Amino acid sequence: MNPAQWTEVDQYFVSKLVPEDPMIAAALEASHAAGLPAINVAPNQGKLLQLFARMLGAKRILEVGTLGGYSTLWLAKALPADGRVITLELDPKHAAVARDNFLKAGLNAQIELREGPAAESLNQLITEKCPAFDFVFIDADKASIPVYFEAALRLSHPGTVIVVDNVVRNGAVLDESTTDVNVQGVRRFMDTVAADNRVTATALQTVGSKGYDGFALLLVNS
Ligand code: SAH
Ligand code: DHB
Ligand code: MG
Repeated sequence: MNPAQWTEVDQYFVSKLVPEDPMIAAALEASHAAGLPAINVAPNQGKLLQLFARMLGAKRILEVGTLGGYSTLWLAKALPADGRVITLELDPKHAAVARDNFLKAGLNAQIELREGPAAESLNQLITEKCPAFDFVFIDADKASIPVYFEAALRLSHPGTVIVVDNVVRNGAVLDESTTDVNVQGVRRFMDTVAADNRVTATALQTVGSKGYDGFALLLVNS
């Protein structure tokens, strides 16, 4: 384990392959200045999400957990002119910073932020018979991942791709007797998917500037 080297390699890849978009960089700067925690995705993961969305030709994207809107902006930049991101955030301070970042990035018209507990916002979307999303990024409180996954499935169509962030947490996912509700959430999600024929799934471990973590990738079956 050499976290300093992971960060250096991330910086190398980012310098070569992930040119900094001034709007997205400014959003991250504003988020830090406002005191938001630096738990946004790394730039190369933001670009990975953007590439997934582009590969899918996604027009409708759902994000659970906005923070200052860093990942939201990476995703919004993947959209065609008539595309839309709906992003869900509980914390009013985070939501305010994100809204300001969306305005300044000129992407306010394409991004809808719904403030409040994501479980409630998701139920609202289901009640509204919101059209299905093409891509879903689940990145809020980890204890509720199973709830967000079930709601995401109800808001999906065959071919929808769902990414779930932070499923490794320094290897904590292995601890079957954990008392950490976040790890319990990840493990319950894994148990659900293991017994689920609605999706085809895998998960990957990552190391880099955000430490040792990983994500799950799911395709909604026909
Ligand atoms: N996706 C962001 C990071 C999100 S951090 C990025 O990569 O840039 C997780 C966010 O989820 C935090 O802003 C936190 O306030 C929010 N959150 C936590 N619990 C939540 C809940 N119950 N409903 C909605 N958002 C929640
Ligand atoms: C945390 C949340 C995240 O979404 C993340 O990518 C890293 C850390 C956290 O709550 O600590
Ligand atoms: Mg995350």
